[in-house]
Amino acid sequence: MAMDVVLSAQGLTKTYGAGKDALQVLGGISFAVNRGEFVSVVGPSGCGKTTLLFAIAGLQGVTSGTVTFNGRPVTAPPKGVAVVFQDYSRSLFPWKNNRDNVAFGMARIQGLSAAQKRDKAQEMLDAVGLAGFADKYPWQLSGGMQQRVAIARGLASQSELLLLDEPLAAVDAQTRADMQDLLLDLAIRFKQTCVLVTHDVEEAVYMADRVVVLTRRPTVVDHEIVIELGKKRDQITTREDPRFLAARHDVMTSIRGQRAHAPASAA
Ligand SMILES: Nc1ncnc2c1ncn2[C@@H]1O[C@H](COP(=O)(O)OP(=O)(O)O)[C@@H](O)[C@H]1O
Ligand SMILES: [Mg+2]
Repeated sequence: MAMDVVLSAQGLTKTYGAGKDALQVLGGISFAVNRGEFVSVVGPSGCGKTTLLFAIAGLQGVTSGTVTFNGRPVTAPPKGVAVVFQDYSRSLFPWKNNRDNVAFGMARIQGLSAAQKRDKAQEMLDAVGLAGFADKYPWQLSGGMQQRVAIARGLASQSELLLLDEPLAAVDAQTRADMQDLLLDLAIRFKQTCVLVTHDVEEAVYMADRVVVLTRRPTVVDHEIVIELGKKRDQITTREDPRFLAARHDVMTSIRGQRAHAPASAA
């Protein structure tokens, strides 16, 4: 079967600052994402995951290398790419209620009336379990609920590619497991192509069809592994599956090995 490549990153480098203050974060990152895939990109904190995600989303330039979306070079945020930001509380508009925050994600969808967008926003809030909170404002919700609004907005945009930057990093363990399953269910239901960046090895493996493992800075792709656990996952049985454990071992070893060899000055 020919792979339908949606996103491709080729040799991405990024250096912040100049001279003695220069910090090379990305050291030449290359990987591709196929339509319908859920890809996790995992690496330690500070290795440049947000930098990479912003580059892919066309929100911030790179020093060298190319990003292509549907074969076209990305130089500005392309139509068809949505982002759920790590800092979700700052990505929701405090003056809009939750329904309007979700509807905002549909701003670039043509041919939908305001009423249809409202209905669709309500449907997405239902899907993330916030049916009764549409008329409330983000600041009236807990952190985890706000993140669900942000996820609903990302999905509502019906983008070809959804980029998620550590979307569950700030929620407690139980909520986190529930939200992983919710996100996976929705990704399957909407046939959503997703790239999730995270520092959490177990989450990376649990969620993904394929895991891209990063090194420490200057960051490159160490290796990739295909997770052959099928689309449907289960918090208990998947996490006990020998294939899950083998993948987890592989990724953990790679990431811990790098940490052990990191110079004392590394963050
Ligand atoms: N705008 C910036 N200017 C200078 N340094 C930055 C900037 N953004 C990020 N960094 C630095 O680049 C490194 C990688 O940051 P980031 O991409 O946020 O990593 P991650 O998301 O993996 O934690 C960090 O050391 C961070 O301090
Ligand atoms: Mg980050």
